[in-house]
Amino acid sequence: MQITSFKQYEEDYKKSVENPEQFWGEVAQNFQWRKPWFKVLSWNFNEPNIKWFEGAKLNITENCLDRHLATSGDKPAIIWEPNNPEEESVTLTYKMLHERVCRFANVLKRNGAKKGDRICIYMPMVPELAIAVLACARIGAVHSVVFGGFSAKSIADRINDAQCKLVITADGAYRGSKQIPLKDVIDDALIGCPTVEKCIVLTHVRTPVSMLKGRDVWWEDEVKHVNDICEAEEMDAEDMLFILYTSGSTGKPKGVVHTCGGYMVYAGYTFSNVFNYQPGEVYFCTADIGWITGHSYIVYGPLSQGATSVLFEGIPTYPSPSRFWDIVEKHKVNTLYTAPTAIRSLMSYGEEPLNGKDLSSIRVLGSVGEPINEEAWHWFDEKIGHGKAPIVDTWWQTETGGIMISPIATVTKTKPSFATLPLPGIQPILVDENGKEIEGNGVMGNLCIKFPWPGMLRTTYGDHERCKQTYFSTYENLYFTGDGCLRDEDGYYRITGRVDDVLNVSGHRIGTAEVENAINMHAGVVESAVVGYPHDVKGQGIYAFVIYPEMHGDVELSKKDILQTVTRVIGAIAKPDKILFVSGLPKTRSGKIMRRILRKIAEGETTNLGDTSTLLDPAVVEEIIEASKKL
Ligand code: WT7
Repeated sequence: MQITSFKQYEEDYKKSVENPEQFWGEVAQNFQWRKPWFKVLSWNFNEPNIKWFEGAKLNITENCLDRHLATSGDKPAIIWEPNNPEEESVTLTYKMLHERVCRFANVLKRNGAKKGDRICIYMPMVPELAIAVLACARIGAVHSVVFGGFSAKSIADRINDAQCKLVITADGAYRGSKQIPLKDVIDDALIGCPTVEKCIVLTHVRTPVSMLKGRDVWWEDEVKHVNDICEAEEMDAEDMLFILYTSGSTGKPKGVVHTCGGYMVYAGYTFSNVFNYQPGEVYFCTADIGWITGHSYIVYGPLSQGATSVLFEGIPTYPSPSRFWDIVEKHKVNTLYTAPTAIRSLMSYGEEPLNGKDLSSIRVLGSVGEPINEEAWHWFDEKIGHGKAPIVDTWWQTETGGIMISPIATVTKTKPSFATLPLPGIQPILVDENGKEIEGNGVMGNLCIKFPWPGMLRTTYGDHERCKQTYFSTYENLYFTGDGCLRDEDGYYRITGRVDDVLNVSGHRIGTAEVENAINMHAGVVESAVVGYPHDVKGQGIYAFVIYPEMHGDVELSKKDILQTVTRVIGAIAKPDKILFVSGLPKTRSGKIMRRILRKIAEGETTNLGDTSTLLDPAVVEEIIEASKKL
């Protein structure tokens, strides 16, 4: 199933469009099924109703673990690199990982988990996180991993939305020089989560935690009570595998639902092809398993292909900005898959951190999460890849399950800041505001996908209508990505960024409405409007315009309070980079905030603000401009 030449890519692409069922049917033969499908695909985008590999039975963990045991049981599956480089790294072979997943699966069962139950996972980047994820999949429970940076309230909302029965967490997490009290946060969250019966706690940072009688149990104790034999649950291809919450343009995050069969095929196929993974190579994706990148390209994709996946607990700059390069040297990493924001941050330290580091093992480089600017692209290419490692700029989304538009390493000619061409099976189209297709090359439009692919979301948990409204109703018969896109003279795609009210901060998706709601919870705030602005390292920064009448006190203190509120409500990742106190917001006569104007002001534009004649009170714009100059 691996594409080795551009000619083959073209042939496979053609086939995938002309005969998608045959194409994906053949790809799926490379996986292990308990029972074959009777139909590869049935679909409509109106409901939407999408079924891949109907009738097929499988368990994804048999594909990620069991099937490798005979041939590669002693091969490393996961290499764990701790936050603190002085601690030992840990290697888990496929045999060891299989054993530990089975054992923990039995722990889940012992604590009442059954097929179909939802389980929330809130953990640091340790091997047990991957084990917890796979153990859920082993018994057919649905995991909902919540990133360790989210607040108690965010966790509670997610747990309640999915009605989780169990929570898996740890005492705490290390993040560079900081410690995050995960269990404390969970304790706060669980006060408002009536569905949660049990909480399994891993010892990691050894900080004291309070254990609630009857609810909380220790991971280490539990595993002693069970053995390591656990037959995998037989799952239908369209049974739910996991839920992952993601932000949109409206208030509350949605639970994106992925199912077992299609997701597995798509994550495995794209991993193998995009990175041109070769047996025995060491692959390092720096994402967190709390995001889709970690699900698909630390856990499921690599393991389904029998790869060796590095799992890194720490951050790029701890204990020094050499950390990534030390890891590359230490584990002889062949593929490094990271985010533009990390590249830009490391770039800013100059070449010193690279001195004396042996990066010769690197063969393929990857980028994900946001548009990569040319400067960062060239730095990555020259300083890290020494001009010899192809860069795969991979465009995709939580909803797409896997990479959609990307070069195929060693096959596709790359171009700085272009995600280049669609993978086989992916049919992108650009449309104008009215949904009319924009044909030809050298054009721009809104990016949609016109045909299903196996890794696509099936629904948003508990609210199918919302899935329909968000993705399938903007344009008839199309999946709308929310991204703007250029198709250049070569037919290459370049993603230009979101066209909705969604921000991309350090590769993390944050809804402006969500941040506004959080700010508005502060007692002194009357109203707020949040927009993005270009930020050197984060890609986009968060700029908040806040109506805050009682400004006699300490302005800086008030801003601090607001940041606290946002941290409490969402998490530190959503903290505004800039807060500007204003007495009013530019609104239309019907009361709609003119974000276009605020965006321009946030970008530093003070003269060409476009048409302001429809504003209720044009004077407010002058006031905001003057105030913004002083910020
Ligand atoms: C949004 C999806 C899926 C990986 C992590 C983010 C932006 C993602 C690229 C890229 C330009 C990109 C898009 C997309 N994005 N990759 N290579 N070039 N933009 O997942 O949180 O679901 O966000 O990230 O705007 O819609 P996500």
